[in-house]
Amino acid sequence: MLVALTGTPGTGKSTVAAELARRGYTVVLLDRFAEEHKLISGFDAARGTKEVDVEALDRELRVPAKVGFLVAHYAHRLSVNLAIVLRCHPKVLADRLRARGWPDAKVRENVEAEAIDVITQEAVARLPFVYEIDTTSSTTEATATAALEILQGKVQGREPGRLDWSGEVLSWF
Ligand SMILES: Nc1ncnc2c1ncn2[C@@H]1O[C@H](COP(=O)(O)OP(=O)(O)OP(=O)(O)O)[C@@H](O)[C@H]1O
Ligand SMILES: [Mg+2]
Repeated sequence: MLVALTGTPGTGKSTVAAELARRGYTVVLLDRFAEEHKLISGFDAARGTKEVDVEALDRELRVPAKVGFLVAHYAHRLSVNLAIVLRCHPKVLADRLRARGWPDAKVRENVEAEAIDVITQEAVARLPFVYEIDTTSSTTEATATAALEILQGKVQGREPGRLDWSGEVLSWF
């Protein structure tokens, strides 16, 4: 079973992935895989980010494990069985991204995307099973445990549509 661990930058994918790996699960960091397999298709100068050829990545990726977590903000665009979208309240996400030293415009773009559920909506549009975990005020360990609970079918309260941060966007920029 392939699980997309996705979400807006700063919601905690890499941090939770490290915890899942520590617990013995197979984790594929897609950015690293794409680099190693020369699947970078371009460079977004405005954002200062590399563009991954997601379709080529999907073709080339083989995960020899019963359960594999595929980790990236585009993981839900791959051939996965389900997607877990990490979420974070926009104000807290802004703090996390500013702490990285990111410029205001880049912080704002990502915080707005989080506030209007961009990744969840993309995932729901193409995958039958999508669940969310709110990382705003929980620990990394609790988030990793929640991800594993979802795989066990404990999905109640984790269905998309519960979080509504759309009002945040205009109120504080
Ligand atoms: N419950 C939580 N789960 C995961 N991360 C959390 C949680 N609470 C706070 N954090 C913090 O949020 C930050 C998340 O950063 P991280 O690099 O993991 O995000 P990311 O989703 O991988 O971003 P990117 O898409 O840029 O790679 C870390 O500093 C982490 O310590
Ligand atoms: Mg990351």
